[in-house]
Amino acid sequence: MDQKTITIFAGKGGVGKTTCAAATALQYARNGKRTLVISTDPTPSLADIFETTGSGKATPVTDNLLMHELGLPEVKLMWETRFGREVFEVFSSFVAIEYPDFVDFMTSILPGLGDEFMLDYIRQLSQKDETDVIIWDTAPLGQTLALLETPTLLRQHLKMAPRIYSKLKVGKQSRQPVIEILKQWEALSAANIEFLRSQVKFCTVTIAEALAVNQLKGVFAEMNKYDLKREKIIVNNLVPVDGSTFLTNRAAQQKRYLKQIREVTDGLPVIEVPLFPGEIKSLEMLDRFAVYLV
Ligand SMILES: Nc1ncnc2c1ncn2[C@@H]1O[C@H](COP(=O)(O)OP(=O)(O)OP(=O)(O)O)[C@@H](O)[C@H]1O
Ligand SMILES: [Mg+2]
Repeated sequence: MDQKTITIFAGKGGVGKTTCAAATALQYARNGKRTLVISTDPTPSLADIFETTGSGKATPVTDNLLMHELGLPEVKLMWETRFGREVFEVFSSFVAIEYPDFVDFMTSILPGLGDEFMLDYIRQLSQKDETDVIIWDTAPLGQTLALLETPTLLRQHLKMAPRIYSKLKVGKQSRQPVIEILKQWEALSAANIEFLRSQVKFCTVTIAEALAVNQLKGVFAEMNKYDLKREKIIVNNLVPVDGSTFLTNRAAQQKRYLKQIREVTDGLPVIEVPLFPGEIKSLEMLDRFAVYLV
């Protein structure tokens, strides 16, 4: 069996991640690949771009293409199903808290917990034979980096934890020692980060502006630290030179930042996408957008 294509679209807010993810997914589908485009954005816009309605489930868009928008409730549920009860047992051994409050607390206190469980979900999907390509449209930069940090934080936490938790009683429901429950969670984190390293490619979307270029350096340093695979960088919204002073000045400035982007990307392919006259919506517009992405 061919190795699956799993690509994450990452970048700061509003640069065009969802548009690039949607256009890329559509092209894979057009080429006969069974494709799933999945979004964990708290304010999802995939349905809007595809001009369809999201239902919280995987929804068909066109031949070979499914889209799935997962909000916080779905991610919470995943976490609950997998570890919620067990970790609650650990927690409730020393704090009096009701289960629903505990779930709210955990999902809000641990940055990237949702992302970690999303990653786990995508890893499980990748092991099934239902799709050839998975495109993951992530939330803006901050949360994407949290995704990379969570397993490490968890590991550091767990290194300290045994001394405390081994003294705690056995979980009431599972009858498992607390330390075993935590070990399982650590194993899950390790498997997920390994999956991220070995099977997922990152596509960074950016724009040619000072702030974006500065952030890019940090993003790449972070990716190198985690030894992640970088596929390409897309520089979106490049203005055309049409003779007007306004646009010509803007284009000249973007050109300078584009040069800086090339300098920090270590030879990675840099894809240039022009600013379109209007929003990118509908399959037809996405096809036109995708011409620039290959
Ligand atoms: N090259 C382009 N030309 C014109 N409009 C564009 C272009 N790329 C994206 N857009 C428009 O810009 C807006 C933001 O794009 P998009 O939603 O893809 O960004 P995003 O990075 O996913 O944002 P968020 O961080 O909020 O999720 C959308 O209205 C989209 O249609
Ligand atoms: Mg988006």
